[in-house]
Amino acid sequence: MGTDGREVFPHRGGVTAADRRRVLGHGPATVWFTGLSGSGKSTLAFAVEEALTAAGVAVYVLDGDNVREGLCADLGFAPADRTENIRRIGEVAALFHDAGLITLASFISPYRADRDRVRALHPDGGFVEVHVDTPLQVCEDRDVKGLYARARAGELPGFSGVSAPYEAPEAPELRLDTGRTSLAACVAAVLDHLHATGVLADRHLAAR
Ligand code: ADX
Repeated sequence: MGTDGREVFPHRGGVTAADRRRVLGHGPATVWFTGLSGSGKSTLAFAVEEALTAAGVAVYVLDGDNVREGLCADLGFAPADRTENIRRIGEVAALFHDAGLITLASFISPYRADRDRVRALHPDGGFVEVHVDTPLQVCEDRDVKGLYARARAGELPGFSGVSAPYEAPEAPELRLDTGRTSLAACVAAVLDHLHATGVLADRHLAAR
């Protein structure tokens, strides 16, 4: 029961995680891609989504620029807004996890504490942190959206990696540098991890 006037009574249904695994044929996971703008998070997340979909897995990408058009359209890039952005997405990912799905979340998510809070919303092993650890110089050379040039020109205050912090994960489940490792090899590393931890079955990798 709430103590602040909001009387909330969560209802627990009878469908279990094991039931959902039986229906879907795989376990749930939240794969959280964190890294600088231009590090390759979205490219990797969507490539993993394609590979998993081809393998018959129920998977969905939550991506920074897309979520910011809807669920988080009211948020900017001030530290408190980024924290709220990650909090909302984390709650959505935790619900999807409960639904038995694999979620691929692709957000700069620059603050360690924000990511750790999302991890804590998941059961042990349910949150897979992937540091897309492409060096700043490589991201800046790519400058896919032209934002680094604008940030260096002082037009974008508080740009992650340039004029705002990026706190790298200390012990991510995976660390991938898209400047050194091919997209196919990065996708394979994610799928291998999900297989090694029992989320995916042998047959999900057989299609490769
Ligand atoms: S987060 O910090 O809250 O996790 P998110 O991943 O949702 O960020 O959004 C990042 C995207 O917003 C970047 O890829 C870039 O296209 C855009 N963007 C606009 N302004 C900024 C900024 N000041 N810092 C970082 N990204 C920005």
